[in-house]
Amino acid sequence: MPKVVDIHTHMYPPEYIRLLKSRSAIPLVRSFPGAPDPRLVLLSAEVPLLEKHEEDQQNQKDENLPLPGRPLTRHFSSLDQKLHFMDTHGIDISVVSLANPWLDFLPGSEAGDIAQSINNEFSEMCARHPGRLYFFAALPLTSPLPTIQSAITHASSLPHCRGIILGTSGLGAGLDDPSLLPILTLLASSNLPIFLHPHYGLPNSVYGPRAAQGEYGHVLPLALGFPVETTIALARMFLAGVFEQVPDLKIILAHSGGTLPFLAGRIESCILHDGYLVSSEGGRVNRTERRTLWDVLRTQIYLDAVVYSAVGLRAAVEAAGGADRLMFGTDHPFFPPVGGEAGDEDGEWESVGLNVEAVKGGLDGDDEKVAGVMGENAVRVLRLEGE
Ligand code: URA
Ligand code: ZN
Repeated sequence: MPKVVDIHTHMYPPEYIRLLKSRSAIPLVRSFPGAPDPRLVLLSAEVPLLEKHEEDQQNQKDENLPLPGRPLTRHFSSLDQKLHFMDTHGIDISVVSLANPWLDFLPGSEAGDIAQSINNEFSEMCARHPGRLYFFAALPLTSPLPTIQSAITHASSLPHCRGIILGTSGLGAGLDDPSLLPILTLLASSNLPIFLHPHYGLPNSVYGPRAAQGEYGHVLPLALGFPVETTIALARMFLAGVFEQVPDLKIILAHSGGTLPFLAGRIESCILHDGYLVSSEGGRVNRTERRTLWDVLRTQIYLDAVVYSAVGLRAAVEAAGGADRLMFGTDHPFFPPVGGEAGDEDGEWESVGLNVEAVKGGLDGDDEKVAGVMGENAVRVLRLEGE
């Protein structure tokens, strides 16, 4: 039987949750009177509502505002719950990663030790369930370069580590920052793919004042801010020539590449029509010898299949150059069923069903391709067999 593999699935180990409980700025965990679960507040788009609650509390006002963030259920940190979720959805293997914002907010002096401890914790979880769990390690990106390099060496020594999860901020200046090149080069030579995942989204101002009051829930930052962030990060790396400089680098893009499958053609056209880039007096881009974004997508990029529709999945397959470069994911524990009729969190999740249907529908029921995207591609690309 072909394996079903979930390559996009997160956890916050208990140590990380304890850290969030001690904080007063995002990311944080906070309890609110009357709310059954504490709230996990992660995104800058959630800050206006958090601040409104704080103001109301100070002024002893009760405006009946929606709660900020999301309920911190046991799904976020319990390994038993992860295994239950896998069993419920027929998932044989999960490649688990720390969820956003990883270690990006820690002081550099602490991040190295915390990275080591969290990566060890993931490694131990995997070792307790041989053949079922692997992980992407987290890096202490606020620490000095030698600490980050040691964390990569440590990660590659852990037997169940299959890559690293990375946000778009890099060392603070984004992924086109030349200072990041030694890290990217070390990852490539260590055969550790990057799972590139968004967190920072777009400035709150683009979502408008009604979103700031919580009127639109999380829809704008999650459905649009996240994918656009990923698209911009990858476009910056491409424009900076990172893929030429580190030709062995492999990146798995979250959410089927954000909007890249749809926008790669436009990015290509904008380059070709950019009078500065292609100027005959030494512009940075050589029209005839340049490597195209399509080529990068088809050689150094893999896409997860977390796209929720057959339309998006078909675009992702085309952009990636074939169904053998896509890998199924769930984004568990985000997107649980909500509202009575959607069922409960211990049952089947609609968000998973949407992605399974997208794979089947987008590949027109081609059993071999479906088996590839649902797991066999991940087994091959991430070397998951053998236990
Ligand atoms: N929301 C997040 O903050 N992270 C995810 O991975 C998905 C949804
Ligand atoms: Zn995710």
